Amino acid sequence: MALLLFIFPGCGKLGDQTTGLITGEAMVVSAHPLASAAGANMMKNGGNAVDAAIAVQFALAVVYPSAGNIGGGGFMVIRQSDGSLHSLDYREKAPMQAHRKMYQNKNGDVINDLSILGHLAAGVPGSVDGMVRAYEQFGTLPWRDLIQPAIDLAEKGFPLTEREASKLNDNRAEFISTNTVTPRFLLDERWAAGDLVYMKNLANTLKRIRDHGRSGFYEGETADLIISEMKRGNGIINHDDLRRYESKWREPVTANYRKLRIISMGPPSSGGIALIQLLKMIENYEVDTMDWKSENYVHLLVEAEKRVYADRAVWLGDADYFPVPVEQLLDDGYLHRRMADFSFNHAISSDSISEGNTQLEESVETTHFSIVDPWGNAASVTTTLNGSFGAKVVVGGAGFFLNNEMDDFSIKSGFPNMFGLVGSDANAIEPGKRMLSSMTPAIIEKNDSLYMVIGSPGGSRIITSVFQCLLNVTAFKMNMQESVSAPRFHHQWKPDRIYVEPGRIPEITKQHLVEMGHIFEETGSIGSVNAILMIPGKGMEGGADPRGDNTASGF
Ligand code: DON
Repeated sequence: MALLLFIFPGCGKLGDQTTGLITGEAMVVSAHPLASAAGANMMKNGGNAVDAAIAVQFALAVVYPSAGNIGGGGFMVIRQSDGSLHSLDYREKAPMQAHRKMYQNKNGDVINDLSILGHLAAGVPGSVDGMVRAYEQFGTLPWRDLIQPAIDLAEKGFPLTEREASKLNDNRAEFISTNTVTPRFLLDERWAAGDLVYMKNLANTLKRIRDHGRSGFYEGETADLIISEMKRGNGIINHDDLRRYESKWREPVTANYRKLRIISMGPPSSGGIALIQLLKMIENYEVDTMDWKSENYVHLLVEAEKRVYADRAVWLGDADYFPVPVEQLLDDGYLHRRMADFSFNHAISSDSISEGNTQLEESVETTHFSIVDPWGNAASVTTTLNGSFGAKVVVGGAGFFLNNEMDDFSIKSGFPNMFGLVGSDANAIEPGKRMLSSMTPAIIEKNDSLYMVIGSPGGSRIITSVFQCLLNVTAFKMNMQESVSAPRFHHQWKPDRIYVEPGRIPEITKQHLVEMGHIFEETGSIGSVNAILMIPGKGMEGGADPRGDNTASGF
């Protein structure tokens, strides 16, 4: 630990902190100290929040390879200091050869792990196109400067944190069985904190992106390496898929909740819609007069969550392919009616389903970063490979992991994905379609000014993590760090369980909730929230989640 503290000053035991880093001008909160530093440096050099976001995205692809990526996708929500709002969808797409039943055998049974592990699990990556598009619209520093920190980290080596070292060790056997050309750094037997990792192939790929922009990834040598990898591993992504990939600017979803305005990502993420639905459903209850640990508070949130995740399973998917009824889903009347049968006295049970192969203990391996720049522009970015290290396949010679985002589709109606989420037609696989996400990069305004930048990894638990952290601050007056550190709970309609972190709900309250019909399951960690809260007259406070190596950095 002493060595680590030396390597990453400021990376102490965040759980011990009650106040996050406070800075006057600018801040990045991300999953890794080196990525936060890369983003903060961009702003020190005169760059804005989007410049910093691009630098963080590329740096995370090196130092945080289990979720940071160039082989995956994500969403970026932006609020400019003039109040203008933007959201960028760089979610992966199904390859053109994908089809509805590609993960089922002749009898219609789902083939174990096919959508999770290996080449066929990968969607067409969107991150590089996304960064290029964000840069074209908002970037101010030279493009090459934004990627250079990532190249330097990959080429000159970077020290592993303890968590990252264990992740590499724990996944070694799967890396070896899934890869066609296993890179050296995945073969090494025992990584320890402080060990230096070098990623030469990744550095070269990043240089091609630095020198050729979009075509440094979707065409030429990198594209050839991806397609050769697909051929060796029986994957289906082809040159056309890569050439045709495009990220998209979309309308952010927005709504008022009490004195706040919520701004987040619309389809193909369910995150923004679900977060707003949750807030609207509890709006008529005086949450701030409830005790944070009380059964009434837990019960109210859980009952709202059941209804929201039930909607998600049926109504949400890629709006380019399925008519998602966004307006109805966000309609005040509809949402208040959905709570008409809510009672503080008893739980309404979700129909039980066979839970299949749920892997809710899959570690939190998406990643969120929040950024505010000296002008008051904000970027809220969640990006992912889906599972930890995605499909666990590194593109031979190119050095980066491919996502396993295809598992976010409903691979068979009613069959739970790796987060236990069920879906149907709205989220069925179609060529070129984007799989439904739960990512909830959000920006909150209060009195027309920037108030909070927030988001989390955690699959299905992202939405409820963001929801609770927001309420912790607004209803329970926690500061940002207390809010993200506080233990959480989660319900997603099916399976009918309240997942709860240790220490969140007192035993006696749990007993009462069980008597009301709730079922509990204790779980490791729920989400990993990185957020920034504006403090009028003072600057801003970072909330870096102690559930990971998350770090706030700024000035
Ligand atoms: O887009 C989604 O909702 C998922 N692919 C996110 C995955 C995730 O958060 C992984 N962490 N547990």
